Amino acid sequence: MSLTAVVGGRQVRASWTYLDGLPGLNSHVDAWLLATLDKAVAAASPYGGRYRPGMALNASPSQVPSLTVTAEPVLAGGTVVLFREKARDTGADGKITESSETFTVDTVSGEVRRAVELLRPEALDGIRSRVSGVPADIAAPAAKQPAPTDVVLGPAGELQVATVQGPSRRAGITTIPASDAEAMLNDAGRKVLAQLRSPAVTLPATAPALRHVNCDLVPCAALTYDDGPDAKTTPQLLTILQDQNAQATFFMTGANAAAHPATARQVADAGHAIGNHTYSHPYLTKLTPAAVKSEMDRTDAAIRAATGSSPPLMRPPYGAADAMVQAAVGKPLIIWAVDSLDWQSKNPALFVPKVLREITPGAVVLMHDVDPTTIAGQQELVTSLQTQGYQLVTVPQLFEGTPLLPGHVYRSRPERK
Ligand code: NI
Repeated sequence: MSLTAVVGGRQVRASWTYLDGLPGLNSHVDAWLLATLDKAVAAASPYGGRYRPGMALNASPSQVPSLTVTAEPVLAGGTVVLFREKARDTGADGKITESSETFTVDTVSGEVRRAVELLRPEALDGIRSRVSGVPADIAAPAAKQPAPTDVVLGPAGELQVATVQGPSRRAGITTIPASDAEAMLNDAGRKVLAQLRSPAVTLPATAPALRHVNCDLVPCAALTYDDGPDAKTTPQLLTILQDQNAQATFFMTGANAAAHPATARQVADAGHAIGNHTYSHPYLTKLTPAAVKSEMDRTDAAIRAATGSSPPLMRPPYGAADAMVQAAVGKPLIIWAVDSLDWQSKNPALFVPKVLREITPGAVVLMHDVDPTTIAGQQELVTSLQTQGYQLVTVPQLFEGTPLLPGHVYRSRPERK
């Protein structure tokens, strides 16, 4: 993934790779990227503040970035992936500060550890004595004993050790040949090296259905489609979403899921999220609690019969809910932050600009997949949002990391605290 953000007039470019089935590594990458971006925001503003995904919208990539951050695998073998996080910062005075840290990831246990932990403590003196080109301006005794900040194992067993030397924060790189490197590694280090030398790579057996995405980092939006499925228009929408590599959420009525089970299944098979939109689309606030529960249960049963699983979310018809409804539905209530009014205008020339005008990162957007005029506007809407920098995700993806509680109402992802 990648993003371009403008932070206090400076351009920041980040690119990174997640590894499927290794949530420990992926959250490590997320935390590091957010911390790096937070630091850039704090440095740019006298009032501090934090990075917001909105900073990565509509950033013109023409400028030369003043901060480049990357997090990528550098080497893999056996059950080990070597993964490196790097930042290169060009200051206003043109001075370049570079930093990097390499981690080992165990693809079986998922454990992430710093590569410098693979060295024996006694090896540090040997490394220090090899560090060449210590800048002459460094006189402090502490600076004469640079500590390794990053270690990269090469495929032939050689070690590249980075050390930061003194107050000017210059990085020195020392390469230690394989013949000397092995003696510098501790037990864990020798095990990692043995794995890296094996030609095959073992990746986690269970990969998630959807690629990991962090909506604190990249601007996300959840497009939602109500009142289907429809045997004609819903598959048309699925084709558009698939072609654009976009995910969405479908709030189905029980009656339509029962009438078009194959279409409901197609939605689920494409990885989209499904929500309960009641069986017969009534105003739930006008029903008794028992009748609300019956609307919910019959819909769960119809969706389960079609797709094999009960929907974890619900949306009350017309967005109508009160304390009674909230207590009776037994699921999180997903309302919306942006109402396209697609059903009212039946005109893409009106509802597409309306959504583009009102959308913000984290928003849930309301549309309906039963109307051909809604489908007619989706290609343009999806393309426009992605061009701005939005990732189109399911409602569960949008809220990942924040709880979705039964009986609670949600309209957009809360900002990071
Ligand atoms: Ni509806």
